[in-house]
Amino acid sequence: MPTFRPFDERGTPIEDQVMDWRELTIDPYDKIDVDPHTRTRVILMNGIENNATFTKHMIARTTPNIEVRESLASTRRVESMQQQAVNWLNPAQQTILETALGYEQVAVDLTANLAQNEEDLYQKATLNFALLEDFDHLYRYSLLYNQLENGDASEFLKDTIEIKEGRPTKIHHRHPSDEMRKSWDKNTASPKTKMNYFTIVAAEQQTMLYYKAHGFMYPDELARGLYTEIADVEQQHVSQYEALGDGNMTPLEINFLMEVNEAYNYWSYANTENDPRIRQFWEEMMRNEIGHMHEAIALLDRFEKKDPEKILGGDKIDVPIVFEETKDYVNKILEEQIDYQPYNMEYMPEQQIPQNWPSFAYRDQLNGTWIPSEEVVRKSGPNNGDKIIELESK
Ligand SMILES: [Fe+2]
Ligand SMILES: [Fe+2]
Ligand SMILES: [Fe+2]
Ligand SMILES: [Fe+2]
Repeated sequence: MPTFRPFDERGTPIEDQVMDWRELTIDPYDKIDVDPHTRTRVILMNGIENNATFTKHMIARTTPNIEVRESLASTRRVESMQQQAVNWLNPAQQTILETALGYEQVAVDLTANLAQNEEDLYQKATLNFALLEDFDHLYRYSLLYNQLENGDASEFLKDTIEIKEGRPTKIHHRHPSDEMRKSWDKNTASPKTKMNYFTIVAAEQQTMLYYKAHGFMYPDELARGLYTEIADVEQQHVSQYEALGDGNMTPLEINFLMEVNEAYNYWSYANTENDPRIRQFWEEMMRNEIGHMHEAIALLDRFEKKDPEKILGGDKIDVPIVFEETKDYVNKILEEQIDYQPYNMEYMPEQQIPQNWPSFAYRDQLNGTWIPSEEVVRKSGPNNGDKIIELESK
C-alpha cells in the first residue's frame, strides 16, 4: 500500500496552473464503456472542487486582509477551472437520473470505504449511519429510472453495487436539532479523520446541490417530489457531517487542511484509476493541489505562525481512498443498524427512543399526505422486490 506524504512534494507553481479553454473543455468518458468507479471518482472530485471554490469565497468574505484575499483569489481561480474540467468529463448522453444513480453510488461506496478506514469511533458511527440512508436513495432512484426511462440500474452500474431497500427514506426526515453531532478535537484527531471529514462534507454537499439544481427539470410530478424529498435528506447529511468538525479551526487552518485533502483525493485516484487518460489528469491535478497547499502553508506561517505538520496532526496518511465493491460491508451494517436513529447525538434503535422525540412529529408533518419515496415503490407494483433481486443475481 502506498503512503501519501504531502510535505515531500513540491507540486506545480500556481502561475503554471492556469488552463486555456481547450484544456478546460475536456473530452467526456464513454457512458457505456466507463468503469462505474471511474464515474464515481469524477462525480466526487467535482464536489471536492466546488467545495474548495465556495469555501475560499466564504473565507474571503470574513477577512479584511488583502494579502489573504489575493492569495485565495489566485488558487480559487484554479479550483474553479479544475471544477469545470472535472465536471465536463461527464458525458451529455448520460441522463440526469443516470448521473443521480452515480451520485448515490459515490455516497455508498465512498462512505463504506471511509468508515472502514476511520479510527475515530464516533465519526465512524456517523458514516455508518448515513450510509444506510444513501443506500436506500439508490433504490428509490433506480425505481424511478425504470419507470421514466425504462432503465435497469443494476445493468447501468454493472452490478458493482446491490440495489435494494435500506433504511426507508420516509423515516430519514428528522427535526433540525437531530442534525447536531459531537465534534472531534483538532489537537488530537488523526490526519485521516480530518481528511475523511473534508471529503464526506464536500461529497454530501455536492449531492444536495445536484438534486436541487436538477429536480425541477422533470415534468413528472413524482420525479419532482422524489428529488425534493431526497435533496432534503442530503441537506441533513451535510449538516450532520459538518458538525463533526472542530469549530475552533481557524479559516486559514481550514484552507490548509482542505488543500491537503484535495491533494490526498487526487493522489488516491492517481493510484487506483484504470483509465490511463483520466489517471494522467488526476496526477496533474494532484500536482496543482500540492502547489495550493504550499500557498496555504505560506499564509499560515505569515499570519498565524503555525506549523502545518501540527495542524494536520502528522506528516502522512497511510491508506488511499479506494472505490471498490462494498457489498459485504454494506450488508453487515444493514443487518446491525437498519433501525438506528440519532437521539441526543447517539445512535440507537428507534424503539428505544421516547415518544416525545421532536423528530417523530417533524417527520409526520413532512410526510403529510404524500410520500414520493413510498409512491415510487407502489407504482412499481407488487413484484418489484422480486424483480430487483432477480436482476442482482443475474
Ligand atoms: Fe482543487
Ligand atoms: Fe443520498
Ligand atoms: Fe447523503
Ligand atoms: Fe486546491
